[in-house]
Amino acid sequence: MAELKEARVPDIGGYDDVPVIEVLVAVGDTVAKDQGLITLESDKATMEVPAPFAGVVKELKVKIGDALSEGSVVAVIEATDSDTAAAAKPADKAAPAAASAAAPVVANDPKVEPVAPAARPDNIAQASIAASPAVSASEAAPMGAGLPPVRFDADALLPGKVPYASPAVRLFARELGVDLAQVTGSARGGRIGKEDVQNYIKHTLQSGGGAAVAAGGGGGGGGLNLLPWPKVDFAKFGEIEVKPLARIKKISGANLARNWAMIPHVTQHDDADITELEALRVALNKENAASDKSGAGIKLTMLAFIMKACVAGLQKFPDFNSSLDAAGENLTLKKYFHIGFAADTPNGLVVPVIRDVDKKGVIDIARESSELAKKARDGKLGPAEMSGGCFSISSLGGIGGTAFTPIVNAPEVAILGVSKSATKPVWDGKQFAPRLILPLSLSYDHRVIDGASAARFTAYLAQLLGDMRRVLL
Ligand code: COA
Repeated sequence: MAELKEARVPDIGGYDDVPVIEVLVAVGDTVAKDQGLITLESDKATMEVPAPFAGVVKELKVKIGDALSEGSVVAVIEATDSDTAAAAKPADKAAPAAASAAAPVVANDPKVEPVAPAARPDNIAQASIAASPAVSASEAAPMGAGLPPVRFDADALLPGKVPYASPAVRLFARELGVDLAQVTGSARGGRIGKEDVQNYIKHTLQSGGGAAVAAGGGGGGGGLNLLPWPKVDFAKFGEIEVKPLARIKKISGANLARNWAMIPHVTQHDDADITELEALRVALNKENAASDKSGAGIKLTMLAFIMKACVAGLQKFPDFNSSLDAAGENLTLKKYFHIGFAADTPNGLVVPVIRDVDKKGVIDIARESSELAKKARDGKLGPAEMSGGCFSISSLGGIGGTAFTPIVNAPEVAILGVSKSATKPVWDGKQFAPRLILPLSLSYDHRVIDGASAARFTAYLAQLLGDMRRVLL
C-alpha cells in the first residue's frame, strides 16, 4: 500500500543551515531509493540528500537558497512497496566492481564524511550522502552479499530527468557552465564522469558552439555563468570592519574584471640592460638642475625613456597599436601614439594618457607625466586626460618587485609592466660585469598577438633601452 512519508536531511556531519544549491527532482517525479533529491553546499563540502525510499514526489518542501540542517523536511514522497526499482533488475556479475569505481560514495549509511578540503585541488571538499542504487544494492550492504548483484540502469531509474553524476562531477560541470542534461555519460549505467564533461566541452568548442559552455566570447561579454560569490559570515571567525570601496576602485575594478575575463592574457618577460641609460638619465638630471634652459627643474624619469622606446616598438610592430572589435573580427590600427601610464593614487588606480608621444622629447614627456600624475593624485584628472590611449605602461619600479602580470587595458591589446631595476652580474663573454637590469613584463591579448611577436617586441624594447640611439633609426 502506498504511504506518504517525509524525506528528511540525515546526519550531515554536524553542519547547520547549509544552503540548497540544486533541487534535483520535481513534484510528480518517480524517484528510486538513494536517488539525489537536492544538493547542499557548505563552504567546505557539497552533499546530495538522497531519497530514503523509492516513490513518487508529492510535495517539495525546499527551494534553492533555503538553509537546511539535520532533520529538515525536504519532500513528501508517496512510498512504493519495494524500496528500489533496481532490485527488480536482472543480475550483472560485473556490476559491483564497476559501480564502486564509478561511485565511491557512502551507501545506506546516510552519515556524511566530508573529504578534507586539501584533498581537492579546487579546495572544495566533496561528500556525498547519496549512493547510486547499484552501490547500495550490491556493494555496500554486507547483508545482501549472498544476493545476486544488481545491474544499474539509469534510463529505467532516472528517466531522463536527473543527470546521473556524482556531486564532484556536478560541481565540475557547474564551474564550467555545462548543462549536465546535454552530456552523455559513458560509464556503466549512463553515469557521467569528469571526462564526459571535458569531452562535451571539447566537442562543443570544436563544432563552433559555446552557448552551452557559457563562456564569454569576443562579443557581448556576458554569459560567463559563474558560481555565485561565496557568502561568508566573517564575524563568526573574529573581529572585522567593513570598508566601502572608493569610487575609482569600483569603476576600475569592474573594468579590470571584464578585461581579465574576456581577454586571453599571456605575459612575456624580458630584461633590459639600462646601465648606460641610467647613467645618461642621472647626468642629464644633474645638468638640468644646474641650467636655466627648458629642462630646468624637470626630473627626467625612466618612465619617459620607456615611453619613447615603446612608441618605437609600436611603430615597428603595428599590431601592438591596435584594437580588436567586439565581434573579434577586425583590428583597428592606429596611426597616432598616445601612451597611458598607470598612476597610483590614494583612491585607486587611474591611467592618464600622454598624447602624441612620438612627437615629444623625453623632457616634455617627463614634465607632462609628472603633471598628470600630480593631477591624478589630487583627484583632478578630467575624462579627456584619461581617454584615447593606444598602449599602457604600468611602472612599479619605484616600489619594488621583479616581475608581474599587468592586465591589458581594453580595448588596447598590450600593456608593459616595469619592475625595479637592480645591478646583476652579466656574462660579457669574458667575465661577469655588473649591469643595471630592468625587468619588463608585457601582457598581451593572445587573440591579436602571438607569442613570437610578443617575444620580438620585448626583445626590441630591451635593445632600445640598452642603446637609446636606436630610437633615432
Ligand atoms: N627601477 C628602479 N628605480 C626606479 C624605477 C625602476 N624601474 N622606476 C622609478 N624608480 C625610482 C625613481 O628613479 C625614483 O627614485 P629617486 O626618487 O631616487 O629619483 C623613485 O623610484 C620613485 O619614482 P616614481 O616617483 O615612482 O616616478 P616614476 O616616474 O618612475 O613613476 C608613476 C611615476 C606615476 C608611474 C608612479 O608614481 C606610480 O604611480 N607608479 C605606480 C603605478 C601602479 O600602481 N601600477 C600598478 C598598476 S597594476
